[in-house]
Amino acid sequence: MNWNPDHYHLYTDHRLRPALDLLGQVALASPMVIYDLGCGTGHVTSLLSKRWNTAIVTGIDTSEEMLDRARQDHPSIEWKNEDIRDFNPASKANLIFSNAALHWLDDHEELFPRLISQLRPGGVFAVQMPNNFTAPSHSLLFDLAGTDRWFDKLGHLVRPAPVHNINWYYDLLSAYEGNLNIWETTYFQVLKGKNAVLEWTRSTALRPFLAALEGEDIKAFEQEYAERLLEAYPLKRDGSTIYPFSRLFIVLELAEE
Ligand SMILES: C[S@@+](CC[C@H](N)C(=O)[O-])C[C@H]1O[C@@H](n2cnc3c(N)ncnc32)[C@H](O)[C@@H]1O
Repeated sequence: MNWNPDHYHLYTDHRLRPALDLLGQVALASPMVIYDLGCGTGHVTSLLSKRWNTAIVTGIDTSEEMLDRARQDHPSIEWKNEDIRDFNPASKANLIFSNAALHWLDDHEELFPRLISQLRPGGVFAVQMPNNFTAPSHSLLFDLAGTDRWFDKLGHLVRPAPVHNINWYYDLLSAYEGNLNIWETTYFQVLKGKNAVLEWTRSTALRPFLAALEGEDIKAFEQEYAERLLEAYPLKRDGSTIYPFSRLFIVLELAEE
């Protein structure tokens, strides 16, 4: 799936805030080896590198478009085109950080323990994932893709919500010796512009659906989705749109041996 760095940066402030909230809960003093999984354009990776400026920081992603931007903007950081599913670094990590990426992967029951196994004793696994899959922005998209008109072309893209509830992650991760900090926040995002929620999802959830369509279908699907969104997220009198967005956070700090 192609990513568009420019479009992803359209709502930078809203997308950055949860990353900073996550970062604020990582108490490591001087980690030596840091990986940012699903680093995208590397903006958040560069903040990790600034905060821990003696650490070796590596950003990992599978999108060449996003990595190109990362390389261009932050040449001193190491960037690697690698699938998170194959993450098996030569040097174990003091910090594995992942902001808004692991929800693109399924099977967290197998994935999370495997990622955590790449930490050194005392290491930290810090993750933020959107947990908005039952919100109208997503349910309307999946409902529309499941209609007779679109099912043949888009039905295969409707997948079960990849993110589990907070209790599920607690049960999975509380087995580790150390300290588990886990929470969920709904950001009451005030977005500017026409069809703001459509513009938001265009660079994330909607991308695979548009990528599977061609020609006139793209416009037609987008228009139907936009109409449904406008009903669910009506414009406020001042022209803004309120888009509540839930996110789940995990900071697991492993015990020192
Ligand atoms: C929403 S962006 C988040 C980027 C960045 N972490 C940030 O906070 O700005 C999600 C990123 O995850 C990457 N991604 C998705 N699945 C991946 C996978 N299996 N392996 C590596 N990267 C992946 C995408 O290419 C994309 O750049």
